[in-house]
Amino acid sequence: MPATRLDGKKIAAEIRSEVAADVESFVAAGNAPPQLAAILVGDDPASQVYVRNKERACEKAGIASRLDRLPASTTQAELLAKVAELNADPAASGILVQLPLPSPEAGGTGIDERAVLDAIDPIKDVDAFSPVNVGLLMQGRPRFLPCTPHGIVQLLSRTNISTSGKHVVVVGRSDIVGKPMAMMLAQKDSTCGPETANATVTLAHSRTQDLAEVCRSADILIAAVGRPEMIRGEMIREGAVVIDVGINRVDDRLVGDVAFAEAENVASAITPVPGGVGPLTIAMLLHNTLMAAKMQAA
Ligand code: GUN
Repeated sequence: MPATRLDGKKIAAEIRSEVAADVESFVAAGNAPPQLAAILVGDDPASQVYVRNKERACEKAGIASRLDRLPASTTQAELLAKVAELNADPAASGILVQLPLPSPEAGGTGIDERAVLDAIDPIKDVDAFSPVNVGLLMQGRPRFLPCTPHGIVQLLSRTNISTSGKHVVVVGRSDIVGKPMAMMLAQKDSTCGPETANATVTLAHSRTQDLAEVCRSADILIAAVGRPEMIRGEMIREGAVVIDVGINRVDDRLVGDVAFAEAENVASAITPVPGGVGPLTIAMLLHNTLMAAKMQAA
């Protein structure tokens, strides 16, 4: 029997309408609407699409948005000045610097991405990329949670997939997804309760020996490597749950990190690409922007 498809789009819509209702009460209580302030440096087409999608999602949830478009030639000092301006602006609840910043090949000035993320006021850091928010997560007392892994926790919880006591293999150790995902699932509790925490986690990566065997030992396999269809059907245990974080463009087609047609015949449940994890990232960004506005109003 083919795997159940986990409908991230539907769950994201649910979360977005919950956030919208919550924004409405926040504003009805006399607060200014939350605002997401995004900075886009350069004109990378994929980043332009992401930023536009974020703006649209904000609007639908009653969240204001502002976009500062800066040319690819922007220097690090200029970008840091923009971040400082938004840090000081009480109207900006959340600040997001769209990544990646333009490389020198794309006309960029070689900005140190880390220095820019470090400069965002942690109370406005809705991506949860700042060292303060990463540290709080690591200590099990998170403030903002990074949007993609938090979206995955929500997806698991709302589809009644428990991670407690299970072996979760996360493939990919990025700061944005792999590392925080592993940390969140290994902890005693999550924002959705202990059933979507308490996992035994293996964080696998490009140097992992016998990756196929490690993947086959997973009850829940989370692929976040950014390599099209790298996870093959034979790397998945019969009945495992497969979460595919990859969004790779191949010949004008979007494919995940998992070979879907093969995986679907082995897994018990799987997220499609597109329509799986992707929509949840934006939903959790809206959640974080509202949370930032609430913290700043308190
Ligand atoms: N580029 C790709 N994903 C993300 C994200 O989650 N946040 C930011 N700021 N940039 C990104």
